Amino acid sequence: MNVLVTGGAGYVGSHVAVELLAAGHDVTVLDDLSNSRPETLAAVRRVAHREIGFREGDIRDGALLDALFEDAEFHAVAHFAARKAVAESVADPLRYYDNNVLGTARLLERMAHHGVKTIVFSSSATVYGEPRTMPITEDCPTAPVNPYGRSKLMGEQMLQDVRAADPEWRVSILRYFNPIGAHPSGELGECPVGAPENLVPFIAQVATGKRERLEVFGNDYPTPDGTCIRDYIHVVDLARAHVKALDFLAAGPRLAVHNLGTGRGYSVLEVVRAFEQACGRSLPRRFAPRRPGDIPVSYASPARAKADLDWAARHDLPRMCEDHWRWQSRDGRRRAARSSATTGGYGARRLKEV
Ligand code: NAD
Ligand code: WQD
Repeated sequence: MNVLVTGGAGYVGSHVAVELLAAGHDVTVLDDLSNSRPETLAAVRRVAHREIGFREGDIRDGALLDALFEDAEFHAVAHFAARKAVAESVADPLRYYDNNVLGTARLLERMAHHGVKTIVFSSSATVYGEPRTMPITEDCPTAPVNPYGRSKLMGEQMLQDVRAADPEWRVSILRYFNPIGAHPSGELGECPVGAPENLVPFIAQVATGKRERLEVFGNDYPTPDGTCIRDYIHVVDLARAHVKALDFLAAGPRLAVHNLGTGRGYSVLEVVRAFEQACGRSLPRRFAPRRPGDIPVSYASPARAKADLDWAARHDLPRMCEDHWRWQSRDGRRRAARSSATTGGYGARRLKEV
């Protein structure tokens, strides 16, 4: 298939691009680089040993979408482009409704216009809000508790409505739990801009010395060690599921919702210890008050994804941390090399060390 990947320069999209290329699909990325770097696409090419198309631009730009759909015959869209920071969405909700909701509406409109009716949509476990039962199945009620989560649920609802109006659509909604890790090559991973909000990117920056210490938000939750439990999933496992989802859609028009998680939860302290093993040093941390909006426990039932997509996560927590650390430490060295290369003699010495 020829696949348009919106947000394909980002963390999840770049890993999916690699897996799509490896499965023999052609890929064109549309990304405005608002939260990513063009070097990521060069890394995708190196890792996949394949060419990949790239157009810099915004999914809300209808004329640009028309030009893309007219220039090439796309069979499917994998839609990752979105903003994803919960705290930012609380502070600036309209930015989220504009980018994530109106962006998705514009994309669906232009897809329909050009007769491209196959889409894989990045949704999130955040749409479940505060579920009453564990593990979380796809049938649990959705009740997101912040604007980011609501923007993702609105995306899902638009897709349901579009398909109800036109049953030719093939729609895969994937609800990710907590993606972490990086490509095993160390060439691709998450590059948070500013202070990371998520646990593992923050831990990784403590490990490099960029942050002094981790604050563990809450140690009085009703869990074995008092810290929150989440279902962390290796980003490469997550990426593989997208290829399976496209195969699933190839079988015929349908709309399906799947959780993507391992089905196993780990506490914050268990993640810290696994990362310490991976990086070989102890990581300073202290307990801090609970973070508003956190739920004590969240983990997926991945049974439906197994049954429908023949997909299951393969990587365990130690492997997720090893791969995340390999990427973080190499990326730090690459950035240091880039900045010192522009600063003269010391830079040349640093480059040699790299
Ligand atoms: P990311 O920020 O790394 O990637 C998103 C990419 O989209 C970035 O490259 C950004 O530049 C681009 N983008 C944003 N708005 C755009 C626009 N209007 N037009 C074009 N490009 C735009 O984020 P990610 O972690 O890779 O997340 C990808 C998707 O997965 C998002 O839809 C997110 O909501 C969803 N998701 C992520 C997580 C997670 O923890 N990473 C969990 C659940 C769901
Ligand atoms: C995990 C645990 C924190 C940082 C979020 C979004 C969700 C989805 C994934 C996109 C929690 C604790 C964290 C820190 C800490 N994203 N923590 N110190 O909250 O499960 O989900 O990311 O869709 O929408 O809400 O993940 O990584 O932020 O937190 O103690 O500095 O780590 O309190 O218990 P979360 P997270």
